[in-house]
Amino acid sequence: MRPRPKNIEFEITTACNYNCLHCYCNAGKKSRYEFSTKEIKLVIDQLVEADAELLDIVGGEPLLRQDIYEVLSYGYSKGLKMLMNTNASLATPEVCEKLKRACPELSIGVSLDGPIPEIHEKIRGKGTFEKTLAGLKNFILAGFDVTILFVVNRLNYKYVEDMITLAQDLGTALYVDRFVPVGRGLLNKDLLMPERTHVEFVRDRLNSYSSDVELHIEENIIGEKCTAGRTHASILVDGTVVPCGHFRYSPEFYMGNIREKSFKEIWYSYNPSVLLPNVCASCELYDTSCYAGCLAYSHLIFDGKDELICQKV
Ligand SMILES: C[S@@+](CC[C@H](N)C(=O)[O-])C[C@H]1O[C@@H](n2cnc3c(N)ncnc32)[C@H](O)[C@@H]1O
Ligand code: SF4
Ligand code: SF4
Repeated sequence: MRPRPKNIEFEITTACNYNCLHCYCNAGKKSRYEFSTKEIKLVIDQLVEADAELLDIVGGEPLLRQDIYEVLSYGYSKGLKMLMNTNASLATPEVCEKLKRACPELSIGVSLDGPIPEIHEKIRGKGTFEKTLAGLKNFILAGFDVTILFVVNRLNYKYVEDMITLAQDLGTALYVDRFVPVGRGLLNKDLLMPERTHVEFVRDRLNSYSSDVELHIEENIIGEKCTAGRTHASILVDGTVVPCGHFRYSPEFYMGNIREKSFKEIWYSYNPSVLLPNVCASCELYDTSCYAGCLAYSHLIFDGKDELICQKV
């Protein structure tokens, strides 16, 4: 039986006040396809109808939308677990207080791409480290559960232990994800793409570091089964539903569009086995000692398998 949608991302805008080198959605300008407040509420109704568990509001930068409070409050009132990913630069004490009133149990993910300005700002731009840290602290002061979102790339992988220490000092959880060359990330692939040894380094350090920090490590680093299309999907700014945001420029893998069909129909008629690369589908190691790594990445590259995870390399 098809599992319920566990974690659904909704990209409510592509507008952004940052211009990060790795940004998979090329964020910057507002899209003309962006949903209105009313339309977003209808999508939330559809997610509830489909028995979704968690709604992760992403962008672009979600705090640039004036209706962010209304959106979060609506999802919360409908019983969804609510999460928002943000660069935190706009999170003043007043904004945080308003968010807390709108959605008291909101979890916040704050993106930090390095423990020091020199690293973080290579990816996110000059002056962004202090702004992000200030916003992150405002979230904590307002009583939110905060997780630092750290995307491992070639420039920052060595700093993973410092990220754990920083999370410990700040009292946040730490989520460790892997760079995927999509959008602006594809343009900056040579600078940012980690190697297999870099991912192994991160995995080893995360396994051996002892701390009280709540750690969440993405499957594409620990080598577990990718959740794309199985328990997870992303709704893009124009309503396209993809198995994960990294499939955004791969129309052959689109699941449907919620402007044409309900999310329930799209989700429950989908078979995620289409995502398994051919080379992995016929591999004797698949589903025993290897789980094929990042499915989006494996379809983006020539050989059609994730060489950072592949057990046959
Ligand atoms: C697209 S951003 C939107 C929310 C907000 N603007 C922020 O930066 O947190 C959501 C998350 O995706 C991550 N991300 C962006 N491009 C990526 C890529 N090419 N590979 C992996 N993660 C990426 C960001 O670092 C961030 O943690
Ligand atoms: S990663 Fe987030 S902050 Fe950076 S450009 Fe993309 S949407 Fe904006
Ligand atoms: S990634 Fe490599 S080892 Fe893993 S299933 Fe695919 S071909 Fe086999």
